[in-house]
Amino acid sequence: MNLADAQQQLDRAMKEASGAVEAVTSPAELDDVERRYLGRRSPAGEVREAIKDLEPADRPVAGRAVSAYNDAIGALIEERRAALTAAARAASTETERLDLTVGGHGRDRGHLHLVTQVQRELEDIFVGLGYRVAEGPEVEDDWHNFEALNIPPAHPARSMQDTLYVRLGGDEQVMLRTHTSPVQIRTMEAHDPPIYVVAPGRTYRNETPGPRNSPVFHQMECLAVDHGLTLADLFGTIEAFVRQLFDDESIRTRFRSDFFPYTEPSAELAVSCIFCHGEGCRVCSHTGWIELGGCGMVDPNVFRAVGYDPEEWQGFAFGFGLERIAMIRYGIDEIRTFFDNDFRFLSQY
Ligand code: DAH
Repeated sequence: MNLADAQQQLDRAMKEASGAVEAVTSPAELDDVERRYLGRRSPAGEVREAIKDLEPADRPVAGRAVSAYNDAIGALIEERRAALTAAARAASTETERLDLTVGGHGRDRGHLHLVTQVQRELEDIFVGLGYRVAEGPEVEDDWHNFEALNIPPAHPARSMQDTLYVRLGGDEQVMLRTHTSPVQIRTMEAHDPPIYVVAPGRTYRNETPGPRNSPVFHQMECLAVDHGLTLADLFGTIEAFVRQLFDDESIRTRFRSDFFPYTEPSAELAVSCIFCHGEGCRVCSHTGWIELGGCGMVDPNVFRAVGYDPEEWQGFAFGFGLERIAMIRYGIDEIRTFFDNDFRFLSQY
């Protein structure tokens, strides 16, 4: 072999090796190609073996040609190896991928119960009128639920039929409150006048559940005590809240003489039917009016019971059912639907 043969062999091997490197599809094949073109028995290996037999002047030239060949093929092989490794990694990422995505479905958000919505709305209206929100216990004593409200021991409201008593303390001394009016007493016992509060909450009566009756229901009480309050303030306040609540200027309020032991005078509060505007329809039992609750000027005996001077202070109070308001507002005719907790009903509001 002379220098020209050596050069030629290296050139040919270079071409073949480039093609072979290009053609491999796996690292194992590439190892094979590497052995074949860079190993001891490779074309370059043969040339290196033959250098010692060349003319002395040709030896360094042939040596550099072999190195150049090794460097070039070595670089090609490394480049190819990196590409194969990257491709293999990408492929395994794709095939071994675990899908850990959580829940693809949209989720329904809950919302407040219809009665709670009405309660919050009323609280907002009264807070806007300058009132505070007060609370009282659902388990009450005789003093707050009856006695201090000027309800004498023989009053029918005390009979076992209406009141659910709790076996605590003396006979018929502790009960589930039958109305929110005891919060009037608790508020006045705890604070000096002037007082402007509303007290929403759950109330209980010993009633058989029916379309219009529920042993558990909600009321909202209102109490105002100040200097010089009159019936006109009571009427004006009720009119203001009714207008806001039903968002209807044409709604009228009606007061009819009534009796409550804790107010004098007392009145029944009704609003013109929001469905027929007084024409008469099924909702208002063809009367044109819907009763909301009771109201009146605070009885002097109630002021005496809490130690207020009835000569100095005047007050008005009213109370109404929250389910009633929701029923009127949304045309619901069964009070028990509020307590069944049937999701199909609740989710409509
Ligand atoms: N407590 C009465 C009831 O449960 C409603 C009521 C009437 C509340 C007159 C009052 C009032 O504050 O002055 O039916």
